[in-house]
Amino acid sequence: MRKNVILYCAAALILMASSCSNIQMPETVNVIPEPQNVTLKDGAFKVAGAAVYCQPGIDGIATARIEKFANVLSNATGKKCAFNSGKSAKGISFSVDPSVGKESYCIDIDKRSVKVVAGDASGILYSIQTLSQMLPVEFFSGVPAPHADWVLRCVSIKDQPRFGYRGMHMDVSRHFFPVEEVKKYLDVMALHKMNRLHWHLTDDQGWRIEIRKYPELAQKGSVRKGTMIGRNWSTNDGIEYGGYYTQDEIRDVVSYAESIGITIIPEIDLPGHMMGALHVYPQLGCTGGPYEVWHQWGVSEQVLCPGKEETFAFIEDVLAEVMVLFPSEYIHIGGDECPKTEWEKCPDCQKRIKELGLTADAGHSAETRLQNYVTARVQEFVNRHGKKIIGWDEILEGELAEGATVMSWRGVEGGIEAASRGFDVIMVPTSHFYFDYYQSDRTDLEPLSIGGNVTFEKVYSFDPMNGIPESASKHILGVQANLWTEYIRTPEHLEYMLLPRLDALSEVQWCSPEKRDLDRVKRSLEHMGQIYDQAGYTWCKAVFGEYGLPGMPGGRN
Ligand code: ACM
Ligand code: ZN
Repeated sequence: MRKNVILYCAAALILMASSCSNIQMPETVNVIPEPQNVTLKDGAFKVAGAAVYCQPGIDGIATARIEKFANVLSNATGKKCAFNSGKSAKGISFSVDPSVGKESYCIDIDKRSVKVVAGDASGILYSIQTLSQMLPVEFFSGVPAPHADWVLRCVSIKDQPRFGYRGMHMDVSRHFFPVEEVKKYLDVMALHKMNRLHWHLTDDQGWRIEIRKYPELAQKGSVRKGTMIGRNWSTNDGIEYGGYYTQDEIRDVVSYAESIGITIIPEIDLPGHMMGALHVYPQLGCTGGPYEVWHQWGVSEQVLCPGKEETFAFIEDVLAEVMVLFPSEYIHIGGDECPKTEWEKCPDCQKRIKELGLTADAGHSAETRLQNYVTARVQEFVNRHGKKIIGWDEILEGELAEGATVMSWRGVEGGIEAASRGFDVIMVPTSHFYFDYYQSDRTDLEPLSIGGNVTFEKVYSFDPMNGIPESASKHILGVQANLWTEYIRTPEHLEYMLLPRLDALSEVQWCSPEKRDLDRVKRSLEHMGQIYDQAGYTWCKAVFGEYGLPGMPGGRN
């Protein structure tokens, strides 16, 4: 009996202890993505008025990032945080030591000082993003907030990313977003330590980049005569819709992105998704047109004609200008959703197939082989200019030349196959990373969307290495989410679809699998939500049981 009582008491104590530990949440620094190693200490460092020191001789980009941080701190705290070149045992000091590692950093905060040692200019930037998120959220308001509690919790942090490619995509063809909104999008990506924007610049519904050799491409190819209404395919609102970026604007966005650590990868989607260009140059299509800049969504059967040499001259001229504008080592050439119906009927395409000796096999038609020929020819041109291609996973069908990178969107199978065949891969499966899908099952309250359901939790659950043979794992460069804008007309709606799924994505990209913890990231999200409010972002609160975007009606599948 006595033994039973002792056992009962012991069990009750264990239960109490475990329920106490449930109540007492483990403390974190509330940074997203969560740093890899965090050791909390007692006390806090007072930030307002602290001097900022930058190691002399480190590269100009890193120095500029540190100086900008000092200026924003001065403005936010209302007390000058003087920027100095040099070293000090007090204040906030930054230095670079390559032995820390690429894109990596260490932060050590005690009551007297904040010491940052980064591996490179990217590590400096990421340390600043971490410190920024640890500060009072007023840091992000853009206006002085002298009454906020300007302290940094004492802590030691060691941090580095899991993947080198941490991307987000933006479709500006279906709906156009002005330069200021693109920069705002880049800012929130940078806050999450992302480093690639995949910019989808051309499609059936509008060509959005100025090409000097073909001025009418942007002037006329960017304008559609109307847009289908909701999901009703037979409608057209009859309202002219357009917009494009001049080359000066492109250069401005590219250099802004570079300053916050983001490389922009432009996409010129070919040989399908080309109605914007075909409208202006109908001779590049199989039938000769006329073609309209499309007012509806979906996949057009009208595509570029690879039977004509003129088509390749056009592609090369366009890409030559694009490659000068974008310093990215990668150029995305699309390759998705290219119906072959016109190619099957077109005398020029059939002649090309015959001349090249392209024949069907059990898995691939001669026309699929013709798309392989387009990809290979464009790849060779891009390679000759010292750059590499990325294509959607359709480019894997049939043959693909060495050195191409595959974006696996129709699932992960394309990525697994590509990596196993020795191609580099970026994982972007619709199942987890299509941010144009609904983000809760309350589709009656959420703004009308393309359909599907990709919740915050679904994004967070993705494991990029699942199913990848060990020997092929080096080919998984990273992860990206895609934001197609058929149903997204306004900056507010764009941000609503992006946030906070971007937070979940950033942890998939950055954190090692052991660091991933859904409860912890949701707690940090409460803090991030306050940052979004301060910085003027619209965001979806479905994670917290609130649904809908004011002023935008919901829509069922
Ligand atoms: C795609 O979503 N068509 C790549
Ligand atoms: Zn043709």
